[in-house]
Amino acid sequence: MSEKVKVAVVGLGFGAEFVPLYQKHPNAECYAICQRSEENLNRVGDQFGVERRCTRFEDLLAMDELDAIHVVTPIADHAAMSLASLEAGKHTACTVPMATTVADCLALAEARRKAGKVYMMMETAVYTREFLFVKEMLDSGRLGRIQFLRGSHQQNMSLPGWPAYWYGFPPMHYATHAVGPLLALAGVEAESVVCFGSGTIREEYAERYGSPFAVETALLSLRDCPLACEVTRSLFDTIRQYRESFDVYGTEMSFEWEQLAGEKPVLYSGFEDAERVEVPDYGRLLPEEIAPYTIRGVYDEEHEHTYFVQGAGHGGSHPHLTHEFVSAILNDRPSAVDAARAANWTMAGICAHESAVAGGKRVEIPAAPGA
Ligand SMILES: NC(=O)c1ccc[n+]([C@@H]2O[C@H](COP(=O)([O-])OP(=O)(O)OC[C@H]3O[C@@H](n4cnc5c(N)ncnc54)[C@H](O)[C@@H]3O)[C@@H](O)[C@H]2O)c1
Repeated sequence: MSEKVKVAVVGLGFGAEFVPLYQKHPNAECYAICQRSEENLNRVGDQFGVERRCTRFEDLLAMDELDAIHVVTPIADHAAMSLASLEAGKHTACTVPMATTVADCLALAEARRKAGKVYMMMETAVYTREFLFVKEMLDSGRLGRIQFLRGSHQQNMSLPGWPAYWYGFPPMHYATHAVGPLLALAGVEAESVVCFGSGTIREEYAERYGSPFAVETALLSLRDCPLACEVTRSLFDTIRQYRESFDVYGTEMSFEWEQLAGEKPVLYSGFEDAERVEVPDYGRLLPEEIAPYTIRGVYDEEHEHTYFVQGAGHGGSHPHLTHEFVSAILNDRPSAVDAARAANWTMAGICAHESAVAGGKRVEIPAAPGA
């Protein structure tokens, strides 16, 4: 393999955000793009100057010289496309969630083990500024020992305009933004889960996936670890400004990301001290070519206008994800969110939904191959 990893992006809605990052990364190139509708394919191809374009995923699999595929298609396609990519001998990145069934999560972890290729679930929530800030405090010992973790992801997708597959989607089937930061900070896997469903969503949504709950709220027990984690998800018919946050309580300091638009998170210290903190940017951890992509909104003083940088977004996470995927490939090591880990984070949500449907029964989360 050359020093520039040849990456193709499939799915060019959210996926288009990553095209400039692979182009700018000093050790990668955006070798090809793929999506079904030719019109959008050409629009994105022309915008970024990508020559190789295809409307059939199978054509990417057949490109011998291609090193890696980044899957950013609708959720129902993630598992099958990632499996096919690994089986074709490609390093594989996939947006969240990894899959929607326990069987597919386990199959993907096994396929990655067999293929010996890099797999990475591109979990934005573990590369936000806030996550990197707390991880730094934990690693330096300032937080002390973790005592409890809480994560939430609340969104109201009841409004029209989303792709049709979203309406009625079980909230815990897309729980990795809330689960991932907790398990990444704890550094261990989820072992079992108890979850309750609360409230009800409108019937025409509920019947689509047989999922009636407005909110699902779970407690995870962790393997070989005395911590419990709390996870809350809502997707429809519940009012709350968008929130994707986590709280961490330690023996020396605690961090609460109450998250109201424009408000800074709170750091607790001493016995009663609390202050809102300015979380720094972590572009300095990245190659200089992609470091500017951690900042989404850039204010243009001359025109008194904030313009948005395509490629940035989700708390500055996109360039970090790109860099981690490319670095894992070049250094022949597992990525930070390898298949076994991705399977555990994703299955924690899938099993939580199963528990909620069963009225709060405790569900064991199977160990993934390669864990
Ligand atoms: N923070 C995050 O991590 C985050 C944010 C947004 C979206 N996502 C994930 O990204 C995925 C895509 O989101 P989106 O909003 O762009 O969805 P979307 O449905 O708007 O777009 C999906 C894209 O995939 C293409 N596509 C669908 N089937 C295909 C096929 N068989 N072959 C080739 N291309 C195909 C479509 O043409 C489209 O370009 C979703 O699974 C979502 O969960 C993650």
